[in-house]
Amino acid sequence: MAVKGSGSSGRPGLVLGVIVALAAATFGISRLWDTGSRAALVDVEVPALSELAREGEQAFAANCARCHGQNGAGTDRGPPLIFDTYNPGHHGDAAFVSAVRFGVQQHHWRFGNMPPQPQVTDQDLAAIIRYVRELQEANGIFYKPHVMN
Ligand code: HEC
Repeated sequence: MAVKGSGSSGRPGLVLGVIVALAAATFGISRLWDTGSRAALVDVEVPALSELAREGEQAFAANCARCHGQNGAGTDRGPPLIFDTYNPGHHGDAAFVSAVRFGVQQHHWRFGNMPPQPQVTDQDLAAIIRYVRELQEANGIFYKPHVMN
């Protein structure tokens, strides 16, 4: 009786062990992912967005978020865009067009260069700019004249 019992309980124990090991591995990987490149650098409040900005939200997530973070909050590969430096007085819409079309040489930060993003259409780009501006305003970032000093 005792021998029979221990024989049949061995397999479920093994299966359970494998499940626990897999779960632990998956958890470990997802933790690494969370604390790695996706960690936001600033807190971003997301307001009710206009229709154009909602289009921009999707295009941003697909083309920019891997470096600039979800909602432009920054990662270890690119700066937050919901950040005073990028207010429309210092980085007007033309700076966004230029960044996406021609890329950016590292100058404000130490994340390296931004490569051009030729896959982004003009329509997507206009929507992305609207999206970033609406996020900026909701987070207290408004036009400030750029003063060189
Ligand atoms: C591969 C990473 C990467 C991707 C993808 C990326 N960027 Fe950037 N971007 C950067 C880095 C890094 C900088 C900062 C360069 C510096 O100032 O040192 C930057 C800077 C910028 C700037 C500031 C330009 C300036 O004149 O200083 C804008 C605007 C910008 N990015 C917009 C975007 C938009 C919009 C997208 C998506 C269409 C995008 N970026 C995709 C890495 C990226």
